Amino acid sequence: MLRNATEANNYISNGFKMNPGDEVVITDQEHEGGENGWFLRAKRYGITVKKVALPQPIAKPEDVLNRFNDAITPRTRIFFFSHVTTITGVVLPARQLCALARDKGIASAVDGAHVTGMMKLDVHDIGCDYYTSSPHKWLQAPKGSGFLYVKAGMEDHLWNTIASSSWDSPSGGAYRFQQIGTSNVPALWGLKAAIDFANQIGMDRIEARHRAMNQAMLDAMEQRGATNITGLDPSLRCALTTVDISPIERMKLEDWMWTQKKIRIRGSEPSKMRLATPYYFLKTDMARLLAAFDEYKAKLA
Ligand SMILES: Cc1ncc(COP(=O)(O)O)c(C=O)c1O
Repeated sequence: MLRNATEANNYISNGFKMNPGDEVVITDQEHEGGENGWFLRAKRYGITVKKVALPQPIAKPEDVLNRFNDAITPRTRIFFFSHVTTITGVVLPARQLCALARDKGIASAVDGAHVTGMMKLDVHDIGCDYYTSSPHKWLQAPKGSGFLYVKAGMEDHLWNTIASSSWDSPSGGAYRFQQIGTSNVPALWGLKAAIDFANQIGMDRIEARHRAMNQAMLDAMEQRGATNITGLDPSLRCALTTVDISPIERMKLEDWMWTQKKIRIRGSEPSKMRLATPYYFLKTDMARLLAAFDEYKAKLA
């Protein structure tokens, strides 16, 4: 257990064994807490970071695979990508990307900050070497309860970032990465409670509802003139889709929504709006948001 995805991502970018000139392939949709560890490593130790540009929207999973495939060189050592990206919320084809990496003798690290609690997660099925997450997001766990998964056999490819007892012990698997000093035990109990709660409902049901509600929200916004910039194939979307609402300016809409309606929306410049449908988001919430959006549009007209 680590505190969050940022910390876990940095364990990988700081500790994965690479020589100067070796390459990591990332996407142009990584979070600061994912990509900056690699930039630091590049500046300090001379590795190379190659960024794959993803279309917005991505039409189909193969478009991502082809771009990663084209970026591979004899110096490529690891793929690092978000399972659900922060920029558009697209669900990248993690399983196929990890299989591609494996076929080419390349390691794979997946930033799954958003995934725990959003989608059913099976790191063995994904077939990644490393996986990180922040369950304080969609799983509603306490802040400070993140994790780093290290596939059995991949421990020795990763230097530890924090050294305490067992740091150099060949036995005990990934236990060595967990030796980070005294833990925040209440946060871990809170994480357990969040997992138990989600499992009581069932992650299959939660994921299905995430997909259905988000699709309904996207359909409603498309009817209002918004453009999906996340992914066209439904497999590329779950509970987070970004739409372009031009010519509406996102910051003005965000301010109006908050001051006039006490609705908090999020987005980015100039006209991107995030449609996030967590599992506590009700159909009545959606109706209220859409009514407010219609009112704002009518006011502008
Ligand atoms: C893909 C991704 N990675 C990492 C992070 C950072 O998460 P945290 O602040 O919990 O470390 C985020 C935050 O939104 C994210 O979207």
